[in-house]
Amino acid sequence: GNYSGALRPQVHFSPPKDFMNDPNGMFVDANGTYHLYYQYNPTSTTAGNQHWGHATSQDLYHWINQPIAIFPPNENSNIYSGSAIVDVNNTSGFFPHQNNGVVAIYTINTPTSQTQALSYSTDGGYTFQSYPGNPVLSDNSSQFRDPKVSWYAPTQQWVMVVSYAQALTIGFFTSDNLKEWQHVSNFSHHGLLGDQYECPNLVEIPMEGQTEPMYVLAVSINPGAPIGGSITQYFPGSFNGTVFTPVDGAARISDFGKDNYAGQFFYGIPGDQNQISLAWTSNWQYSQVVPTGPLEGWRSSMSLPRVNYLKNITRVGYDLVSAPYDLSAVTDATALIDKSMGNGSVDVSYSTVSSGALYFQINITNIPVVNITGTANFTFRSSRSGESLRAGYFLAPDSAFFIDRGNVKGFDNPFFTDKFSTSCPYNPSASSLSWSVEGVIDRSILEVFINGGESSATVSFFPEQALDTIEITSSGLNPGVRVNAAVYGLNSAWA
Ligand code: FRU
Repeated sequence: GNYSGALRPQVHFSPPKDFMNDPNGMFVDANGTYHLYYQYNPTSTTAGNQHWGHATSQDLYHWINQPIAIFPPNENSNIYSGSAIVDVNNTSGFFPHQNNGVVAIYTINTPTSQTQALSYSTDGGYTFQSYPGNPVLSDNSSQFRDPKVSWYAPTQQWVMVVSYAQALTIGFFTSDNLKEWQHVSNFSHHGLLGDQYECPNLVEIPMEGQTEPMYVLAVSINPGAPIGGSITQYFPGSFNGTVFTPVDGAARISDFGKDNYAGQFFYGIPGDQNQISLAWTSNWQYSQVVPTGPLEGWRSSMSLPRVNYLKNITRVGYDLVSAPYDLSAVTDATALIDKSMGNGSVDVSYSTVSSGALYFQINITNIPVVNITGTANFTFRSSRSGESLRAGYFLAPDSAFFIDRGNVKGFDNPFFTDKFSTSCPYNPSASSLSWSVEGVIDRSILEVFINGGESSATVSFFPEQALDTIEITSSGLNPGVRVNAAVYGLNSAWA
């Protein structure tokens, strides 16, 4: 692949060429190698002819593109989304001589059916053979897809969550051998509905301040998200091996941007450790028409790897906190900016950063508890075209944050919404309040994480000329309020 294009992300994964959508089959092996498979059409920059592409990484930023892992069995079939597990105990019988066998569980899509099938790998996930007994699960339905399998230790069973997409229902199945599956429960019509449920994930996850882990059930919906197209919602709750019970009746979304879909959690991370996820940074409303196709011959990337856990937040209750996985593998040692100010402004060119990618962090501290005023904005601008990507924080009257991609000119589409915003309360302490945002801008993707990842947003954007300056401005702040702004160049993981 040629990763030098002006819109090509440099610290995010994107396919060598052509069209990518959902992350699939993510697992970490016993040597600590992360495997990412993905929905891949290797013959076009639009969806169709779906395969499982493959890449591996030691640090989740430097990826090695591997040969395509799973091919459709015939011309009328596609390999749709799914998951992978390591069958350490040879429950499947595929691996009599090893403890590192990998089984992929995915949907075979044909014009009239969607069924769940297996392929297995004796070489650690690089090449796969399809199981002659496929399919292993069917429902006489053309809308039954995206199996995600995990191991449930208390009952020593495999658990599959899979979507009856247009019935807005997640089916739960269990199995001893991955080949025979028993239907054990349904999770139906919860939270936001949209037109279809897709890509469910069930994951055991730590809950801050509590020794017992909890569970998160993530459900992607498409189309029909409140802000249009595709979005992912999640439910914190408990799981007893057959039934998932949400903590409450709330609908929670995992990202307030419009470009974070079909996220998946890596298999193989213990439930008492923070879970790691990746999502597709696009939206079905426009993913197949974004300008990277004609300009550079590829479409779509994955989000930053994110570290996830649950936290109890005042009034809101259980919240999925998502922050970037350790960026040190790609971060420059010296800061471009590291400044503390009250009301003021800093304006810095980063045209010297050859990747065009930055990590930034803005911490606002010593905010009084009453009569709060002021704003803090940051703008990424192209010195050549004047295009800009803006974001900003209004401390009052509400504690609210916005992102505006409307002044980036390289893509015009009625569904490519300009503005996103969220309310994101201050962090209280005894005598003052604080607030923070960190994020990464990477040529055509912006990701922000507020208050350590209590809220996050993923926003794609397509400038005609590279953005190359950052301006941070704070004004109207109460006396004594401090703004600490730090910006670091990121090193390309693809150069
Ligand atoms: C979600 C999805 C899945 C399906 C795959 C096909 O983006 O529609 O439901 O398996 O993409 O590429």
